[in-house]
Order: sequence, then structure tokens, then C-alpha cells
Amino acid sequence: MTTALRNRQILYAHRPTGTLTADAFEVADAAVPSLQEGEVLCRTILLSIDAANRAWMQGRTYRDELHEGEVMAGFAICEVIDERDTGIPVGSLVTAEAGWQEYSVQPARGVNVMPVLGPLTHHMSVLGITGLTAYFGLLRVGRPRTGETVLVSAAAGATGNVVGQLARLKGARAVGITGSDTKNAFLIDELGFDAAVNYRSPAFGDDLRRACPDGVDVYFDNVGGPTLERALRMMNMGGRIACCGAVSQYDTSDPAAGGGIHGVPGLVVTKRLRMEGFIVIDFAADWPEAVQQLVGWIASSDIKVVEDVVDGLDRAPEALIGLLAGDNVGKRMVRVGPDPES
Ligand SMILES: NC(=O)c1ccc[n+]([C@@H]2O[C@H](COP(=O)([O-])OP(=O)(O)OC[C@H]3O[C@@H](n4cnc5c(N)ncnc54)[C@H](OP(=O)(O)O)[C@@H]3O)[C@@H](O)[C@H]2O)c1
Repeated sequence: MTTALRNRQILYAHRPTGTLTADAFEVADAAVPSLQEGEVLCRTILLSIDAANRAWMQGRTYRDELHEGEVMAGFAICEVIDERDTGIPVGSLVTAEAGWQEYSVQPARGVNVMPVLGPLTHHMSVLGITGLTAYFGLLRVGRPRTGETVLVSAAAGATGNVVGQLARLKGARAVGITGSDTKNAFLIDELGFDAAVNYRSPAFGDDLRRACPDGVDVYFDNVGGPTLERALRMMNMGGRIACCGAVSQYDTSDPAAGGGIHGVPGLVVTKRLRMEGFIVIDFAADWPEAVQQLVGWIASSDIKVVEDVVDGLDRAPEALIGLLAGDNVGKRMVRVGPDPES
């Protein structure tokens, strides 16, 4: 069966020299290789589109460097459709670094069989990497207390919207920063944020001060750059900054040195701030417990699931380019194939 399958792929064609454009990718059509012992054949169902995909195109990060001509890297939810002596039953649903392609052959140790606790899209959003990033980054690194103010950037995105909702759940005031008034209205009206401000507005600084009259106790930083600098000035004594990512620095071949941030370390010292970077895999041992809690909060409607599904593998490049320009609301993913028939 496997040899008859053709595999549509999106390749990483070359390193972008500035803002990402579609010509950094190439479509290919390959044969699916035959399986060797200890391997599974996966059919991609949902492909995650992440701001970090762009950072990976720039060189070595926390993952191996991408090489030109390789299948574009990406995290996916897949169905196992064949296997050779792996003990993983055909029909299992797995998460894997499957890449931007319809089928992938993986060593059994490269896939994780997932329990299905809700719609598959939820396993890509709130119950997936970005939901867990919000959970651990806010609760373990930011550690908000009741009545404190939590400020989060890229607040209408996959990670940010969950951060704000969790902050509210923990009795804190949630203030979002996004690049759009429409997104901000959504955060306040639909997700219960207390306030939201637009970093593209010329009045950003004044708006931020008005939105955070008691200052900021926890800043969940998804963007770095000038927004981090603004946030540093808003921090209260003893505040915590959870450094999650720096999306403002990804879509360029020449990120500003140090993100172009003034006030580090001066403000960190004088305000006794704690700035702590983290990667969600640091907390992998506690993921199952976090997922159970998140499932409960979804069931009780304490957390709303916000998803942005783009149809078709061929649209993956435009989905990533659009995400970097801020056209997504919630977790962006590409549907590559249908859910398995139940
Ligand atoms: N540490 C970890 O383990 C971990 C894990 C997952 C993700 N992350 C990080 O989490 C952050 C969010 O990622 P995500 O996958 O959830 O993406 P996302 O927030 O769904 O999408 C990215 C958002 O960033 C905003 N943005 C783009 N360019 C910007 C700029 N120059 N300045 C300010 N905002 C900008 C856009 O919204 P606007 O309309 O607001 O501009 C866009 O919607 C990223 O920094 C990512 O690297 C970290």
C-alpha cells in the first residue's frame, strides 16, 4: 500500500533575506519511502503554524538548523496508517515533528501516541503546545497573585489569549497588547480581558498607562523589542517577566542586537524584577496534569477555545506569512487531511 502513495510536500527552498515571502518555499511531490523495522507511516491531519517556524528558518535555535531543500519543519497531529514491528497500532493518533507534508515516515521513538480528550483541533490549541506554554509560563514563571495586573503581548494569538484567560481565572487583572482594535474588542467582549491596547497606535504609551493604572506585576512577553521596553517601564517593584518569545525579531534577517531594548539591566536592577526565559518542554513531566486541568476549564467554560484553521497543505506558506503579519486570531493551524472516521 505504502509504495503507491504520493506525498505532497512543502520544502524550505532558501533562507529569507528579510520579511518572509512565498518564494522561500517550494512545492514537491515525492514517493513515500518503504517502511523499515521500527518505523511508522503517519498521515498528517493538522499542521501547527507557529511564529517560531520563522525563527527556525534563520539558523540554529533550540532545535537543529533547517537546511535548504529539506521539508519545512513543523509539528503535527497525525494518524498512524502503517507500521513495522513498533507495537504502535495502525489507527493510533500521534503528535510528531512530521513537517509540512501529507505523509511522513518516523522512527517509533519520534512519535507520541496521544490520548484524545476533545476535538483534535483542541489538542493543537489549548491542549497543545501553545496552551501548555501559556499555562506553565504564566503559572510557574509569572506566578500571578489575586488582584495583580498581568500584561500579555500578542494577546489575541494562540499563546496570549490563553495567558489572559488564565490570569482572569487566577483572580488577576488581564491586560492585552495586540496590533489591532478589532482584536482588542474581541479580547474584552468575548474573552473577559479587563483592557487591551494597540501597540500600532501613536497613543500606545498613554493607552498602556491608562489600561494599567496600578502598574504591571507580571508581563508575559511574546514579542520582545520596543513593546518589552515599554512594559519594563510599567513594571511594579518585584515584578516578574516571563520571557516566552520575541516574535517582533523573527521576521527579519537582521534582528536588532539584544532586541534593541533599553532599560536592561538598569530597570531590572532598580525595580528588583525577575526576568525568566522558559521553553515549554522544560515542564514536560507535568504536561498530563496541566492538560487535565485545561480540559476541566474548557468544560466549565472558564476558558474559551480560540482557533484559526486554514484549509489545505498548499496554503501553509501563506498561513505562516499571515501569522507574522498578525492576521490570525487564536491558534493557527492548517488542515492537511480529514480526522479519522470514528
Ligand atoms: N517558550 C516556549 O516554549 C514557546 C512555545 C510556543 C510559542 N512561544 C512563543 O510564543 C509567542 C507567540 O507564538 P504563537 O505561536 O502563539 O503565535 P501567535 O501569537 O498566534 O501569532 C503571532 C502574533 O504575533 C503578533 N506579532 C507579529 N509581529 C509582531 C511584532 N513585530 N510586534 C508585536 N507583535 C507581533 C501578531 O499579532 P498582533 O496583531 O498582535 O501583531 C501575531 O498574531 C512567540 O514569541 C513564540 O515564539 C514560545
